Amino acid sequence: MFKVVDLVLSNEANCKRVCELLDQLILTDKKIDKIRNVFINEMQLALNEQPSSLQMENTYIPELPDGKEQGVFLALDLGGTNFRVILMVLQEGQIVKETVQHYHISDELRIGCGEALFDYLAKCVDDFSKQNELCDNRTYPMGFTFSFPMRQHSLDSGSLVTWTKSFNCPSVVGMDVVEKLQKSLLKYNRKNIEILAILNDTTGTLVQGARIDANTRIGIVLGTGSNACYMELAKNVKHWETRCHGDHVIIDVEWGAFGDNGVLDFIKTKYDRTVDEGSLLKNSFTFEKYIGGKYLGELCRVILEELHLQKLFFPKVAQEKFPKPWTFGSDNVSKIEHDTLNSRNDNLLRILSNLGLEFEKDYNDDDIHILRYVCGLISKRAAQLLAINTSVILNRMEEQEITVAIDGSVYKHHPRLRHWISEYTQLMSPSKKSKFMLAEDGSGKGAALVAAIAKKILDREKLK
Ligand code: BGC
Repeated sequence: MFKVVDLVLSNEANCKRVCELLDQLILTDKKIDKIRNVFINEMQLALNEQPSSLQMENTYIPELPDGKEQGVFLALDLGGTNFRVILMVLQEGQIVKETVQHYHISDELRIGCGEALFDYLAKCVDDFSKQNELCDNRTYPMGFTFSFPMRQHSLDSGSLVTWTKSFNCPSVVGMDVVEKLQKSLLKYNRKNIEILAILNDTTGTLVQGARIDANTRIGIVLGTGSNACYMELAKNVKHWETRCHGDHVIIDVEWGAFGDNGVLDFIKTKYDRTVDEGSLLKNSFTFEKYIGGKYLGELCRVILEELHLQKLFFPKVAQEKFPKPWTFGSDNVSKIEHDTLNSRNDNLLRILSNLGLEFEKDYNDDDIHILRYVCGLISKRAAQLLAINTSVILNRMEEQEITVAIDGSVYKHHPRLRHWISEYTQLMSPSKKSKFMLAEDGSGKGAALVAAIAKKILDREKLK
């Protein structure tokens, strides 16, 4: 059921050599057990404010939607190459109107001075407000999805711990991003926008999932980056800088950085090291680099390059024709897996032809088998890793029946990862009845819902 079809090549000796070189990508049961134990331990350490590669960040959000969310809300979503501004009208927890505008974030802004980035975000909000004729004399509560690791001080304040994915504006690290945005909004005279909550995309996914299915307790994103959050008992959380709003609280695990302190080195292969060395943020986000969409394509390319250097793959192709670092996207892995699943070759042939390679002249059936095999191996490893962590979180929970809300390009577009993830998770947490549910656009819709929840909390606490 979970099998990557064994590699068979016309030359048996080559086949053996390839398998030997790729063996390190296979997670044995012993390694799986060890990863699970290490993850449990790292979670516990972080919850108790001990050094850990996980953040287990307190989001201060105590509850999920209860169907009473009401009003007009703004939502911002920053995390990928696009930035979105959303206006949402909620009536009894239902989204009755949604207006969305996408804005492109240029490379200069993503890796430049943070000031310019936040001023640009404010400019987009200003543009959106004008286009949608938002009233100047009315206050708009806003939820800000900021999908990077943060140290949260309260529902509406969080300092950036580190940039990830394709962002790197060093001057913002350590700064309160809500304060920065609010300051930039003032430059556009947008005093009537009140940021009530800052959140991560996983939180948005969890909240959006809970709106659809009341059993939802975990939110996961498997896209360019990866992360999870879940509902924890507030009494298990030690870090409180400001007041606790209820018996539960959403914890942002920040599992992308799992292993940054070396605890996962026992599964790190030479290929993973090469990917890390070529990445924007070296020596960090170890776990994300095993599973995230920003990295899976490059991992595939690095492995194939090694086989190429050993003359086991594309032996007829000159080095100059081999794809350059970071040019082989993760969507290719999904497309090739699609072929494998459907016993076809059309995606694969198209991908190779786009690289300027011709069947028989440049490559043969053995190369095709190797390419498929590598995609299968790294996909299976990613699914297992995600499932191990998810099952640990499931096993912590009191509830028996739990829905996991999940979103992200890799999850959505990879044809068999989602089946593997759900089957492995079931296998590793047999006492729970778990279900994965695609909760699309949690980072947008979820932000408006979280702003609505924050407003309810504020109103309730004012009355006390
Ligand atoms: C970030 C997380 C985010 C995840 C998915 C990671 O790189 O650190 O905060 O949730 O990507 O977007």
